[in-house]
Amino acid sequence: MIRIGVLASGSGSNLQALLDAVREGRIDGEVAAVVCNVPGARALERARVAGVQAELLPSKGITDREAYDHQVVSRLRAHGVDLVCLAGWMRIVTPTFLDAFGPTAAGKDCPRVMNVHPSLLPSFPGLHAQRQALHYGVRFTGCTVHFVDPGTDTGPVIVQAAVPVLQGDDEAALSARILVEEHRIYPLAVQWYAEGRLEVHGRRVRLRDAAGPMLDGVTNPSGDR
Ligand code: GRF
Repeated sequence: MIRIGVLASGSGSNLQALLDAVREGRIDGEVAAVVCNVPGARALERARVAGVQAELLPSKGITDREAYDHQVVSRLRAHGVDLVCLAGWMRIVTPTFLDAFGPTAAGKDCPRVMNVHPSLLPSFPGLHAQRQALHYGVRFTGCTVHFVDPGTDTGPVIVQAAVPVLQGDDEAALSARILVEEHRIYPLAVQWYAEGRLEVHGRRVRLRDAAGPMLDGVTNPSGDR
């Protein structure tokens, strides 16, 4: 049973997906703490409803990022967190943070901070990934769960899901389609971590006993009416 800490800044739908997966037994672990940096964010309410300790640490106006991350780390440590899941956490984490949740033997020497990003990295890192995809005109985008390193959305990739961009899409429609897949793959990645099946070799993440990819629907558009 791993103890998961979730960091969220907004709606918290990925937090909800993790809470649901824990409740339904799809993750061998529990969400031990939620940290939120935005007062009134829906993520706080989701934590409360699930009976999970939520810590509000407002970050607005704070310029010392290391000092802020020290506070976050101490809250997570107080709850005995093994794995940190960034779920719409709108801040870049500092080296202080990553050092505090570096690999341990108990965690099979894996990094211990994960993130979900709404594109097929390394395409469209940073803010407004869905808008970037629409502007570029790609036929597929998607989402990525990755380990976090000091860069912006640059860490080793754990799992990705592709999502087609449809002709009439606006940012909201595309984001909603991608979120469905985020909610599916984030709990998977966390469960693989909990099972000790992830190994990191440089940039590559190996999943032990992996099944193959799902190969349906990979051509978009198909050309058929
Ligand atoms: C998601 O699209 C996630 O990929 C990105 O921020 C969004 C957060 O959504 N990092 P939510 O707060 O989990 O609903």
